[in-house]
Amino acid sequence: MTDVGTENLLEVSGLRVQFAASGGKALRAVDGVSFHVKRGETLGIVGESGCGKSVACMSILKLVPGAKYAGGRALFDGHDTLQMNEKRLRALRGARVAMIFQEPMAALNPVHTIGQQICEAIRLHLPLSGAEARALATETLRQVRVPDAERVFNSYPFSLSGGLRQRAMIAMALVCKPDLLIADEPTTALDVTIQSQIMALIRRLREQTGMAVILISHDLGLISESADDILVMYAGRVCEYAPADELVNNPLHPYTLGLIQSRPSGIGVGAGMSADASAGGRLRTIPGNVPSIEERPAGCPFHPRCERASERCAAEVPPETAPVAGHTVSCWLYAEEM
Ligand SMILES: Nc1ncnc2c1ncn2[C@@H]1O[C@H](COP(=O)(O)OP(=O)(O)OP(=O)(O)O)[C@@H](O)[C@H]1O
Ligand code: SF4
Ligand SMILES: [Mg+2]
Repeated sequence: MTDVGTENLLEVSGLRVQFAASGGKALRAVDGVSFHVKRGETLGIVGESGCGKSVACMSILKLVPGAKYAGGRALFDGHDTLQMNEKRLRALRGARVAMIFQEPMAALNPVHTIGQQICEAIRLHLPLSGAEARALATETLRQVRVPDAERVFNSYPFSLSGGLRQRAMIAMALVCKPDLLIADEPTTALDVTIQSQIMALIRRLREQTGMAVILISHDLGLISESADDILVMYAGRVCEYAPADELVNNPLHPYTLGLIQSRPSGIGVGAGMSADASAGGRLRTIPGNVPSIEERPAGCPFHPRCERASERCAAEVPPETAPVAGHTVSCWLYAEEM
């Protein structure tokens, strides 16, 4: 991970996204989150359900229903998307920034064939004739390793398997050659073989086209196989942010350690807490549950579940520090006496 600079394709800083609760209270789904992605690189975002991964990433395109974008910036190629009007955002969406959603059926239109939908995405953003769009759509289906691309082109989503639907959605996302692909749990609903094929496909396309990728998952192992940098989120905040190898080999935040220890095989590296987990032969789960957005505790939001919590953790939000260059953590264990 390098310093924020002009070469970052995306620079999100201090992002705050809120929802209105009854009684006028603001629910802070994303609370001061910063990250950046360079061209050709993959940022992995990891955390348990409800920690704000999807809201943070969908906010880049202002696609969160009912959200108030309460603060921060999301500079895409130097322009703040949070300040853009719908017209400018529509020109970005699908063309320069594309998304793959967890559930393909939610993104695909059931009454149109896969081919019609991919051609529509092309028609919106590229000046191609009908025949050229059809050829590009079929070619893109082949690129995402859809067997019998002509047949899939003419099929309706419901008639395809989950794996084929997911590939069709990936083809739709990639057809206009986006600069940034946001893949939100792209393989969670799929079996392990298709999951690894799709992850390999995203890596290959990134290498071929130089697109940047944000990969969201609750699975740190999956993320660590593809990401250059990893951002760990909890309860709407950043716990830890570091290059992937550094994060996995030298995890600092107790929540990151918990995520590593709760994987059946650690993360496949020798150091850190994964070694501890395998030595004992026991799989440790993080005690307790993620607090609901209405019931987030004061201080460090992880404190009710943290073995290392002190009184201060329950009272004050920990500051972000960088105990190792390029590796930031928000935890009182690493804060100088403040
Ligand atoms: N439209 C909405 N209105 C109110 N609250 C919402 C809305 N969308 C999300 N939230 C809340 O914001 C928080 C963050 O949600 P988000 O979907 O970003 O979590 P996530 O990390 O992507 O979780 P998952 O792994 O389950 O996809 C959650 O507590 C969720 O309930
Ligand atoms: S600040 Fe305290 S409660 Fe939070 S992770 Fe660090 S030690 Fe645990
Ligand atoms: Mg999500």
